[in-house]
Amino acid sequence: MTIRHNKLYLGGISAETLVRKFGSPLYVYEENALRAQYRKLARSITYPYTRIFYACKANTNPEIMKLFGHLGARATPKASARRAGIEAVSVGEVKIARRAGFPVKDIIFTCDNLTPEEIKYLIRHKIAVSADSLGQLEKFGRLNPGGKISLRVNQGIGAGMHSHIITGGRDSKFGIYKTQLDEARRLAARYRLRITGLMQHIGSGVLDEKIYLRAMHALLTVAHKFPDLEFINLGGGIGIPYRPEHKPLDLKSTGAKISEEFRGFIKAYGRELKLYLEPGRFLVAESGILLATVAEIKKTPAHTFVGLNTGMQHLIRPAIYGAYHEIVNASRMRGPKKKVEVVGNICESSDFLARGREITLPREGEILATLNAGAYGYSMSSNYNSHPRPAEVMARAGRARIIRKRERI
Ligand code: LLP
Repeated sequence: MTIRHNKLYLGGISAETLVRKFGSPLYVYEENALRAQYRKLARSITYPYTRIFYACKANTNPEIMKLFGHLGARATPKASARRAGIEAVSVGEVKIARRAGFPVKDIIFTCDNLTPEEIKYLIRHKIAVSADSLGQLEKFGRLNPGGKISLRVNQGIGAGMHSHIITGGRDSKFGIYKTQLDEARRLAARYRLRITGLMQHIGSGVLDEKIYLRAMHALLTVAHKFPDLEFINLGGGIGIPYRPEHKPLDLKSTGAKISEEFRGFIKAYGRELKLYLEPGRFLVAESGILLATVAEIKKTPAHTFVGLNTGMQHLIRPAIYGAYHEIVNASRMRGPKKKVEVVGNICESSDFLARGREITLPREGEILATLNAGAYGYSMSSNYNSHPRPAEVMARAGRARIIRKRERI
């Protein structure tokens, strides 16, 4: 992202040009940002048998998934580093990953409340699954006795930037609770299942290194009870700075600590294991920008509402998590600022992108850019109020290409 002649440029093209060419509203991804985030993470962990599985729920655009697949092979200098895999949570995501060129051995899976049909699909395609509950473990055992399985563990530790996205702890519906692990081992033995992996995911948007490391330590402590392990999966959850006051994780330092802790564990365990990470947000959030056109400016006695031709149907995070997204006037980056309410075109009062935000006061027809929208933006969008979804565009070095067509009514 750069500013030239007081206008916002994405991947070397002005936001206004992008909208003129591809229409509005529009999701734009900066390819260089996607590459940079992947490399930063891959390089931060020096333990050589580390592998990144992109949690594609953050953004299932196949072109973005393919990009990570290609990058994986080259991002780390280590010979053992293979291409990135995909972490999937539904049969739909598995199918998208396969269409994007990922072989089933590069796809890992976890999800709660699976139906027998879904379980059979996963077994038939030999997808590596982390069982989310004792019941699920038993179902896999019955349908695939003697097979391999990993366990999703809930250590009682949760973290995240909003209560809705904390996935560990006593009140979470996810994982096999730490006190149920002996029972899990007995169940696995009954069906001759080999427990070859342990995974956990404590929550999303974590910017606190300490809790991440504490959860890792807890997982490695129980791992000693499982003699057949091939991998440990630390989950996703790495946050990004959404607010100006947010501090990004010092990945170099966190990565070094993770590597050191893991090396210590391996020594005691007695055998090399693979270390998996499954980040979503960290890889894609900052690359994505939602461009929209100011349709109307409405003044009431109390407020100035800047009304866009998009809204919660295309970016629901502010409405459901009160999430903060930086918003700039892409048509006039600098100018007199005013506190405004940035709202969408949906018939709901929760339909806002920012409340009481200081931005360069826009005029009708100007373009506003909502930043950090690459994760859980398009993938959580809907057709609510019968609005078609925007197009998605990948931009790099002054060139832009459509990676998903705009929907039509
Ligand atoms: N692995 C598992 C098992 C997960 O449930 C998730 C996210 C991830 C990995 C990736 O987490 P990440 O690295 O992106 O934090 N819609 C919310 C986020 C929900 C995350 C759900 N699980 C949001 O917009 O903030």
